[in-house]
Order: sequence, then C-alpha cells, then structure tokens
Amino acid sequence: MNIQGFASRHSFRRFLLTFVLLIVFPLAARNSIARPQGTGPAPRKVIIDTDPGTDDAMAILLALNSPELDVQAITVVPGNVTAERGLDNALRLVSLAGRCDIPVAHGAEHPLNQKLVTAEFWHGRNGLANIELPPSKCTADPRFGPDLIIETIHKHPHEITLVPVGPETNIALAVSKDPSIVPLVRDVVVMGGSISGGNVNASAEANIFGDPEAAQIVFNAGWPITMVGLDVGNKTLVTRAHIAQLERTHGPENDFVVGVLKFLIDLSEKYGAPGVQMYDPLAVGTAIDPAIVTTEAMRVDVETRGQFTRGETVANRTNTVERNVPHDGRLWIEAVDPVTPNAKVAVDVNAERFISMFLGRIAGK
Ligand code: RIB
Ligand code: CA
Repeated sequence: MNIQGFASRHSFRRFLLTFVLLIVFPLAARNSIARPQGTGPAPRKVIIDTDPGTDDAMAILLALNSPELDVQAITVVPGNVTAERGLDNALRLVSLAGRCDIPVAHGAEHPLNQKLVTAEFWHGRNGLANIELPPSKCTADPRFGPDLIIETIHKHPHEITLVPVGPETNIALAVSKDPSIVPLVRDVVVMGGSISGGNVNASAEANIFGDPEAAQIVFNAGWPITMVGLDVGNKTLVTRAHIAQLERTHGPENDFVVGVLKFLIDLSEKYGAPGVQMYDPLAVGTAIDPAIVTTEAMRVDVETRGQFTRGETVANRTNTVERNVPHDGRLWIEAVDPVTPNAKVAVDVNAERFISMFLGRIAGK
C-alpha cells in the first residue's frame, strides 16, 4: 500500500484505528481464549484392578466417565466374586459404557496364601446387585492380568497410576515377577485398609483381609502409595436423597447405578450405616482429584499372623519406635528411633464434593 496515499495524518490515524480494531484485537483475543474444553492437563493413565463387585462397578463407570482419567486396562482379581464371574462382570460393564477399546484381562484365580472368600452376601449372587446387565459385546484380552500390568507400565514409564480396588493379589504378582516396575509406576491409589477398625471383623478391611500377604508385598514395594481406606470410605455415604436425585435422569449406566445403590442402601441401613459407603468409587475419585482426601504420611504394615488381627493395616501414626536394649538382666528403652513412612493414609475426605462429582459424572449416561 502506498503510504503517500494517506495525505492527511487524520486519514492515517483512522486507518490505524480500524486496522487495530478489526485485525489486531481479534487475533490477540483468539490466542488468549482459554484452551477449548478438554485441552487441560493430559489425562492420568490408570489401570484399575478390581473384583466387580457393586462398588467396583460404580468405580469403573466413574472412571470411564471422567475426562481426567485415561483407563489403560482393567484387570480382574477374585474377591467379592470368583475370577470367572468378575471377568464376565467387568466385560459387561465396559460394554455398557461402550468401551470395548479398553483391555479387560483375567488375573489370579485365588489369593496367594489362603482360600478365596467371596462376598455375594454383600454384592448379590452375580456380584452386581442381582442386576442382569446385557451380555458383553467386548472380548477379554488374552493376557494374564499381572502381565498386562507389567507391559502397560513399561509402555508408559512414569505415567501409570495403579488403582487396586480389590484384594491386591494381581499387583503383588506383577511386582514380584518384575520388580523393575516399581520406579516406573507414577503412584498407587489403593482402596483398602483402615486405621480405625475393620469391616470384616474388629481389625481387618475386606480387601486386605482378602489377601494379607499380597497387601504386605504391595505396601512394602517402595512405590508411592495413597491408602484410601475405611477411615474415609465410611464418611462418604450416598443417601436415599442422592439416589432420588439420580433417578431424575436416565441412561443405561445411570439406571444401573440407581439399581445398585438401591440394593446397597437396604444392606447399609440393615447393618448400621445411614448411606452407601462409596469405598471403590472414592479411590477412583482420589485418582481424579487427590485433594478430595486429606492424607498423613505413615508407616503401614499388614499383619499376616495375628489370631485376631490377620489382615489389619497396622499404621504407625508417630513414625517412631522405641529402641529396647539389654540392661541389668532386663531390657530398657535406650532411644526412640524414626520410622520411614511408606504410605499416605487418607484420614479425612470432602465427601459431599466427591458425591457431587460422582453423581454428576453418572447422571444421564
Ligand atoms: O472393604 C471394601 C472393599 O471390599 C471394596 O473394594 C469392596 O468392593 C470389597 O471388595
Ligand atoms: Ca472391590
């Protein structure tokens, strides 16, 4: 353009103002617009190891409906139900969610060192609140679950969060077979354990009780662990009011979860809780948003021999231990030694925030 064409300063100023308003500002604005929905931080890659299981089912559907998570695999472990039933249930769940792209693999057939104890009492004869989901359109991944876990961790070093929400048999088998995965795992968010008494008995939580030896291996592997146990699960209760809210929307997953919650709340009210304990879904919720729980670093060991305490997660709250040494025909306390924590134990939870997240993700699906 011939600058001389702008004889008067006024014309040039008007051109300049027009250029800025029509060209510069829109360009600047476009670059400053917040990134379109869904282009935030990359989704967290997770592997869910599960014994589906009613609350497992809700945890899986929460994960599959959360953009913050990228479910890389689902591996099945016996616990609430047998390995065979659990695999069929997991396949029906991913099919219900239209996610046959996710590898679903069978794992161990029994705990490492005890007979399998199944929990149809709490989960229904089919493990899914006696709700008959449509047969799965998906097929099982042929790999053994622990091998799939190992392969996926090596494929995505430092990116995988393991989310075991059943007995930890598969996780223990994986780390025992290939200890090199420990430094390659981003972290482990486990539903299990308790520092305030058990749900199976006075001391043990069901997942740890389901395979104490496996849990002790997992808690001592050396990777970052967040323990999402009964201490917070028992505070995270879906009530009949929440169920009524979810009944106002519909969809195959929505309606299935309503059925599961109705089955569970009858049991919860009969056995002393004013709502459905969202144990497994809260572990997934913690993988989505770690700030949902408050944690304290503790040394946690799993009792494997106690007559009354086998399966208890024994947490050292002060991370210290007295040092007893021989003295004058007896022992006496010489010092108090530090103990290195190996877990972040969830001691509190923003329950309403989690439940709102859960209901919001499932509503209408
Ligand atoms: O104690 C609760 C845990 O035991 C949950 O994972 C539930 O599914 C059962 O496996
Ligand atoms: Ca479970």
